[in-house]
Amino acid sequence: MSSAFDDFELKGHKLDNRFVVAPMTRTSADSKGKPTELMGDYYARFAEGGWPLIISEGVYTDRQASQGYVNQPGITDAPQTDAWKQVVERVHKHGAKFIMQLMHAGAQFQHNEYTDTPIAPSEVKPKGEPLALYGESDGWKPPKAMDESDFDAVMQGFVGSVNRAEEAGFDGVELHAANGYLLNEFLSEHFNQRGDQWGGDIGHRLKFVAMVAKACKDAAKGENFIVGIRLGQITVTDPDYQWPEGEDAMIKIVKALKEAGIDYIHTTDTDVSRKPFKGGSNKTLAEIVQEFSDIPLIVNGGIDESNYEHIAAHYPNALLALGKKALANPDMPKRLKDGETIEDLEFAMLQPTATLENEWQWRDEHDKHIEAD
Ligand SMILES: Cc1cc2nc3c(=O)[nH]c(=O)nc-3n(C[C@H](O)[C@H](O)[C@H](O)COP(=O)(O)O)c2cc1C
Repeated sequence: MSSAFDDFELKGHKLDNRFVVAPMTRTSADSKGKPTELMGDYYARFAEGGWPLIISEGVYTDRQASQGYVNQPGITDAPQTDAWKQVVERVHKHGAKFIMQLMHAGAQFQHNEYTDTPIAPSEVKPKGEPLALYGESDGWKPPKAMDESDFDAVMQGFVGSVNRAEEAGFDGVELHAANGYLLNEFLSEHFNQRGDQWGGDIGHRLKFVAMVAKACKDAAKGENFIVGIRLGQITVTDPDYQWPEGEDAMIKIVKALKEAGIDYIHTTDTDVSRKPFKGGSNKTLAEIVQEFSDIPLIVNGGIDESNYEHIAAHYPNALLALGKKALANPDMPKRLKDGETIEDLEFAMLQPTATLENEWQWRDEHDKHIEAD
């Protein structure tokens, strides 16, 4: 039976076990979108702690409307790219692989250094309220529906970011098409109410996502450079959202991504074992990927010390991405191996906002500081 501590190979990259740090926004870059030394400490800690693969927080892709949060890091110019090189070196020093998550905020836009106007598939705001965790904001701004020039700018942003991430030394990129950000908005009939070729049924709603995936695959130069994608139905402010076509939507998306040549699909849900589709399907997101393709999987949502081996056995072709448990236990794979206690995340660590400074201060106060090499 396959175990979470088995080796795994992802596009020629050998991983010592199957644990992955899930992407987590920490709003800790400088105001120019450059990653800081503290961010290097943060990522190095996971690499030292036995995680063989780390996915970065969502990184913005262009200097138009892609940034969504204050102090979010970017990968749009040479200074940002150079600053990432230092972070990548520190992760690689401990033998871990590092994937950059490429994120266009779309309508989920709380702060942007370059514009005041979000762009999105249609003039539709997200449900609910902006996230206080990522800085103050006075409610969602009405987005502009994307026109031809916006499509070009978004595409150029993603493709250029693939090249810059590769130049910075990353082992791959992950296209963020989950959680309600721009690519995910195209898939959603709440956000995507377009009457042109990019809207309508799922075959049309998925077209832009598949096109970006194909263009990013074509842009990657290195033979082993990974181009994966994160997919899910739920958004940060709408955990109940479902595609109207039920599991058929997921089947069509998976087939289109296979056609685009994507290297992995990272499914995310509130719980990895949830059957989330409209229409009474008894499958999880990841089971659809497993059934309709041979694309490697990363699965995410509620994986912890009690269920990781069960999930590893259920999805033998999958890596396991952990978010909150990784924040609480930056050395979780080592702890599990050594039979040490696994802690729950104390949300106080991320208050009033999710910055690394707040986490470091909390760790100092609670005598839980972890030095990074
Ligand atoms: C502080 C924080 C920031 C997050 N930022 C991102 C992000 O930038 N990109 C993303 O795809 N998911 C993000 N997520 C979602 C996580 O990657 C993950 O899907 C979620 O925490 C559920 O997994 P878990 O049950 O293992 O925590 C974030 C989660 C947390 C707690």
